[in-house]
Amino acid sequence: MSNAASTEDPRAMANIDDDNLSNNSANGTFEQVVADRMSRRGFLGGGLAAAAALSLGGVGELLRAVPASARTKGGSRLGFPGIPVSAADTVVVPPGYTAEVLIAWGDPVSSGPAFKPDASNTAAEQAQQWGMHNDGLAYFPIQGSTRGLLVQNNEYTDDVLLFPDGTADWNQEKTEKSLNAHGVSIIEITRQGGHGRKGGEWRVVRPSRYARRITGTTPIDIGGPAAGDDRLKTSADPDGTKVLGTLNNCALGHTPWGTYLACEENFNGYFRKNGPPTDLERRYGISAAGFGYLWHTIDHRFQVDEEPNEPNRFGWVVEIDPFKPRSTPVKRTALGRLKHEGAWVQETRDGRVVVYMGDDEQFEYIYRYVSNLPWRLARRQGISPLDDGTLYVARFTADGRGEWLPLTPDNPALAAWSLNDILINTRGAADAAGGTKMDRPEWIATFPKALTAIATLTNNSRRGTGTNPATDAANPRAANAYGHIIRWHYRHDWAEPTFQWDIFALAGDPSVTPPNPADKSTIVGDKYGSPDGIYVGPGGRLWIQTDVSGSTINSGSYAGFGNNQMLCADPQTRETRRFLVGPRQCEVTGVVVTPDEKTMFVGIQHPGEAPTGANDPANPKQWGSWPDGPAGGRPRSACLVITRDDGGPIGGG
Ligand code: FEO
Ligand code: CA
Ligand code: CA
Repeated sequence: MSNAASTEDPRAMANIDDDNLSNNSANGTFEQVVADRMSRRGFLGGGLAAAAALSLGGVGELLRAVPASARTKGGSRLGFPGIPVSAADTVVVPPGYTAEVLIAWGDPVSSGPAFKPDASNTAAEQAQQWGMHNDGLAYFPIQGSTRGLLVQNNEYTDDVLLFPDGTADWNQEKTEKSLNAHGVSIIEITRQGGHGRKGGEWRVVRPSRYARRITGTTPIDIGGPAAGDDRLKTSADPDGTKVLGTLNNCALGHTPWGTYLACEENFNGYFRKNGPPTDLERRYGISAAGFGYLWHTIDHRFQVDEEPNEPNRFGWVVEIDPFKPRSTPVKRTALGRLKHEGAWVQETRDGRVVVYMGDDEQFEYIYRYVSNLPWRLARRQGISPLDDGTLYVARFTADGRGEWLPLTPDNPALAAWSLNDILINTRGAADAAGGTKMDRPEWIATFPKALTAIATLTNNSRRGTGTNPATDAANPRAANAYGHIIRWHYRHDWAEPTFQWDIFALAGDPSVTPPNPADKSTIVGDKYGSPDGIYVGPGGRLWIQTDVSGSTINSGSYAGFGNNQMLCADPQTRETRRFLVGPRQCEVTGVVVTPDEKTMFVGIQHPGEAPTGANDPANPKQWGSWPDGPAGGRPRSACLVITRDDGGPIGGG
């Protein structure tokens, strides 16, 4: 989701940005300490040189442990020419590659109703169709790299494009259709008809017994310590154990036991609170204006004045078993409540799970969770490994080190907090514990053998401005327009309490010398900004996707950057080449490859979004018509399938 238009105008919802700020906590004193230390080290004054030195430090050495299987004879992992920027209303990939739409919003997930280009499908039909505005995705193999389940989040809706007449005459049917276009879509896909190096064509299996929609009304259990807490009880659910729906599922995770994790991000935007917000509501951005959705006019659970605990039932990580279509998803409260970007899982040497999570808002935090038991043992005992563990928030210090601060009542800073206080108000607990306020944490990926994690910090227009927190070592640029990528590593195991970190890249245009040397991009290769999706393929290639706000694409700081894009980097040399450019006004988000790396799936979200304000229901193709083009009725979010014409690994030599 790109934005934060908080306005009473329901039409403004089409341009929903994450550019919010809810963290006014006083733990900025830490940033001041860091700023002082950095000044002494000359980091700020040194600008580029210091940043580059940091970037080429110890982590680079460790990355040599990444398997070399994908390296080409020339030594680079990148086997394609970088492509130019593009402002065209189409998907561009390098020569020798083919990108096709696998499925788009409104297409049936099984043998269901076809999409109607005028958006006149009913709410009941939408419940059988691919949701709108797809985001994080995963591939679960059934037969290796030729048949599997594709699971993708449907983060949010543009309710102007969702109906022939937009948001006019809002009613029950429209509310239900909007809820049904949210959630998660599961399809079965197969590759057939190929011979030799040509792998054949991917298609959606229809009908499929696995095909499923999880929506904004699907019954979902609440699991973990906070289940049944008074703050999770509502008039419809006096036990506080069952929620209707999952909303604003941004990025994802998947577990070693084969389940999918959908992560609730900007849930606050669906709710309205006319009375004065409580501290908890303010900390999570509950407001009178919301993001412009009109659900509250029909479904009173979104009117917080009437149903004060309903927002507490969102902002969680939701576990889904894609192989059990009738299973009930579970919100895993031990992973904390925040604007979850995603939840990326690693295993420790003894089989515990470590889950990395970012909270995507300005000055929010990076978290991790460590299970108490090895996951196999926990499951044998009937305990979910995601219900029993410890949550931590990250602190990055200016000496290139960092530590994980436990968010438990044992932490003296949280002595007055119960565990459920911490899990329901995780942001407040992280404030009290003294986490480092980051420049909008988005995706996190890992290099398993190198014990290294890497995270995108997409941008932060308020960093170092006014009374906002100053720059610090881990967020070194004021009014950070382009964002950066940070990584951290451990010596022996993922559960260690401390780590070393460095900056992989300060984004922007590396060919430009900005007035402030500290703003210089350290990208080695093609320019990009606002990194969001990040993903490490089996061969060690690093994929970076961008989410430049629709209001900024190809203008202002982003003039000449073209449409949103996906790049591929060699993590060892940091060489970065542009691999894909999306259609107009889209965000490129969601990427996974099959185990053989011969197929890649990539999400294209909100093509044709209005740059500011809302789309016009009378002219839905005003800002783009991808993927159906002039013959279609309106732009549609879609999942791409990308293959190489010679059958080789995507991005490789
Ligand atoms: Fe949904 Fe932070 O992007
Ligand atoms: Ca994102
Ligand atoms: Ca984003």
